[in-house]
Amino acid sequence: MSVRKTPNTQLVNDRTGDIIYTPPTGETLLRDKLTNWERFLYEEDDLDLLVKMAIGHYQFEAIHPFEDGNGRTGRILNILYLIDQDVLDIPILYLSRYIIAHREEYYARLLAVTASQDWQGWLVFMLEGVREKAEWVHEKIEAILELIDATGSFMRDGMPNLYSAELLELLFNQPYCRIANLTDAGIAKRQTASLYLRQMEDKGMLRSLKIGKEKLFVNPRYLSLLIDDRNSFAPYA
Ligand SMILES: Nc1ncnc2c1ncn2[C@@H]1O[C@H](COP(=O)(O)OP(=O)(O)O)[C@@H](O)[C@H]1O
Ligand SMILES: [Mg+2]
Repeated sequence: MSVRKTPNTQLVNDRTGDIIYTPPTGETLLRDKLTNWERFLYEEDDLDLLVKMAIGHYQFEAIHPFEDGNGRTGRILNILYLIDQDVLDIPILYLSRYIIAHREEYYARLLAVTASQDWQGWLVFMLEGVREKAEWVHEKIEAILELIDATGSFMRDGMPNLYSAELLELLFNQPYCRIANLTDAGIAKRQTASLYLRQMEDKGMLRSLKIGKEKLFVNPRYLSLLIDDRNSFAPYA
């Protein structure tokens, strides 16, 4: 996607139709502003990187360089920036979830910077999101580790015939698996792999799902942990 070439881009309130914000127009102007934005992000200064991320995000949304997708692009840039600056190793901070959960306030805070230079309100809002999601994701990782532990115990106690550390790990590579995943990993031949998966289903550990011709064995506790806000899981019977 290239920068906007058409004039008349406006951010409009979905309900009232009121114009909320009119971003700059003109390809040259947009490119100049993007250059300025890029320089700011890469400048060596004493600003905290999280503060720079938040300022950069406002700046990007205010420039609104594309015809569509500015919100989504801006949100992914936040995380890519933190990775690029070695603050994060992997894209694990789910800041988008915070922004989307507080969409109304997010819009109001962006607007308040434009309308009344309320940078403090904006920065506190974004930093609070980083704090909240950092804690949340930390708890989520701990919950996943606990689930792996509980699942391992459950398998060792109730299904010692099939338990192996490799199988346990495989079950947590993805929230579902196929017979082929077991055979590819060298855990069992096809028929045995199929038996294993059905045994785990009978024990209430997995749930099979037919998708077209394929049979998937979903790990429901893991899937819920990945999807839900909650960091708890149903205990094994
Ligand atoms: N007052 C504002 N000033 C600048 N940007 C804003 C303002 N209000 C909302 N935005 C940004 O505009 C985005 C929506 O633009 P759009 O190009 O449609 O992105 P997307 O299609 O990804 O939702 C919002 O997610 C928000 O980041
Ligand atoms: Mg859009």
